[in-house]
Amino acid sequence: MRPGLRGRCRAGTAIMRIEGLNAGFYEKLLTIWEKLNASLELDYILLNAMSYLEETLDAERSSIWELDEAGEELFFRVFSGGNSEIVEEIRLKIGEGVAGHTAKISAPVIIEDAEHSEFWSVKVDEKTHFQTKTILSVPLLFRDKVVGVVQLINKKNGGVFTGRDLRSVEMMCIPIATALVNAKLFKELEKTFMETALALADAIEKRDRYTAGHTRRVTRYSLWIADEMKLPSAEKKWLALSGILHDIGKIGIRDNILNKDGPLANDEFETMKQHTVFGAEIVQKIHSLKNVVDGILYHHEKMDGSGYPKGLKGEKIPLFARIIAVADTYDAMTTDRPYRKGLSHDAARDELQRMSGTQFDPEVVKAFLNRLEREVAVEN
Ligand SMILES: [Fe+2]
Repeated sequence: MRPGLRGRCRAGTAIMRIEGLNAGFYEKLLTIWEKLNASLELDYILLNAMSYLEETLDAERSSIWELDEAGEELFFRVFSGGNSEIVEEIRLKIGEGVAGHTAKISAPVIIEDAEHSEFWSVKVDEKTHFQTKTILSVPLLFRDKVVGVVQLINKKNGGVFTGRDLRSVEMMCIPIATALVNAKLFKELEKTFMETALALADAIEKRDRYTAGHTRRVTRYSLWIADEMKLPSAEKKWLALSGILHDIGKIGIRDNILNKDGPLANDEFETMKQHTVFGAEIVQKIHSLKNVVDGILYHHEKMDGSGYPKGLKGEKIPLFARIIAVADTYDAMTTDRPYRKGLSHDAARDELQRMSGTQFDPEVVKAFLNRLEREVAVEN
């Protein structure tokens, strides 16, 4: 390790012109800053930032290590060496290897001969079949706490990394550290939000003594369908939330109807139908939940137009609602009610197939039954 390399990159420090860094670098840096601050789907931007550093510093590879929740181990957040599955399981304890050492001392490290360095760990090279020779390793700091480590590997043409290289990396570390912390905070916020929605759904379910666990099962079945239909992960998040909240409008339905020991009379059924509208009204008031309104409002619509509340037909019914309709009906058919026993899996599957095209979207039914057959096979 070179002595005197005690520079650090702290998130929150203003950009200042540093002698030796050219105008092109500043321009690129500002673009990456902007993107990192604007994006919550981080990895490809991080990879972009790292490949720019590789190019600028003439390095063969680069990586970003992130510190885990417990603050004990580093794992690869981004790795420019191709197959990320290979490195997924690699963990370095604080103090282990060059990255672990960098995190431990919270200061940059330049290694000129990796193999003979006292900090060297062969773990990563063994996995990736790569030979590390030289390393520039810089801690990612947020409010003076290490949140990760950035590494540039192997200066091309047999050279070693310099103090000027270090300054370039340090400037990039500032937005990277901030972005990693922001992404973590966003994830936590999202988790809390999901748990709050689930608690709310559970509270409503408690009023309805026949539907314990219904919300969670409908959400699970809806996500099975989304997997089979290969919906993007961002869509799946909204679908999960739609599944969790699909019957939230039942909060506005009187107990004597909600908990009636028998089939509903016509006027009672008309009242019950209102739960779709009540649910949408509740959720519409929250701007950030606008993507879940359709699933709640239309989950009792039918493909032939005989459903409620609007009598929408075919693909006019939003996809989330078509998915929840299948998941909801399968669960309702297979669970016991006081006035009837739940159907067997085979009987419920036959019913879904019988109603495919009239009540349900055939593609959704197909996706659900495909997945269900696999799940049932695993269970047996
Ligand atoms: Fe419903």
